[in-house]
Amino acid sequence: MQLKPREEEILRKIDRRRIPAHVAMIMDGNGRWARERGLPRSAGHRQGVETVRDVVRFSNYLGIKVLTLFAFSTENWHRPAQEINFLMSLPEQYLQTELPELVKNNVRVQLIGDPEGLPGQVRRAINEGLAATAKNSGMVLNFALNYGARMEIVRAVQALIRDLQQGKIEPSVNEATFAAYLYTAGLPDPDLLIRTGGEHRISNFLLWQLAYSELWFTPVYWPDFCRQHLLQAISDFQQRERRYGKISGE
Ligand code: FPP
Repeated sequence: MQLKPREEEILRKIDRRRIPAHVAMIMDGNGRWARERGLPRSAGHRQGVETVRDVVRFSNYLGIKVLTLFAFSTENWHRPAQEINFLMSLPEQYLQTELPELVKNNVRVQLIGDPEGLPGQVRRAINEGLAATAKNSGMVLNFALNYGARMEIVRAVQALIRDLQQGKIEPSVNEATFAAYLYTAGLPDPDLLIRTGGEHRISNFLLWQLAYSELWFTPVYWPDFCRQHLLQAISDFQQRERRYGKISGE
């Protein structure tokens, strides 16, 4: 992969053996990026897809094992219909052009969120992506679509109660039993959460899974987010000490 001198420079400061295994991203600022250019919001989302393309390639190159992208929240349905329709066309657009490369690069596409609430065309595109990459063993590319963390937790509780009532599981529920009912079952929790666009909040994203994640915020709008920023986030991550509630050095 061809890197720019500035990217090479930051990459040299990074310990390639301590790349965060799971990076989650809240991709915010598309609308403001467009407004500042006098463009329709859709132009910001379209440019956002270009960022997704490069971030996925570069994350894979860096050896990130799981990349989770918050592409559409359960709250995003409150946006104008025209914007929703445009956002719903993006997974298909992305997969149409990128799927061959994802397959070749051993990337496995996954969905977190409620597929039932998604339009048929999105479900079909995603299912095609899931099927084509199901046997891949490299980076997991997790698209959060029609995703809300509270809904995820409530559904997990409902499924767990059902299984308890049917005697499928033991009544002694612990954290691991519960986590197996979440959309992210089987995946490690995010080590690093990146949010672009300047807001400092979680916005109903991975509430359970982010318990011990390092959080990294940047005012950069998602369409302007590039390799340099991702490297900076990883470099900052590597300088932090994750104590998980313990005392330093314990
Ligand atoms: C938030 O920015 C962004 C979204 C609701 C959509 C994010 C989607 C993408 C970046 C593209 C997804 C790509 C694929 C392949 C599925 P905003 O519009 O709320 O920005 P604003 O806060 O500046 O208005």
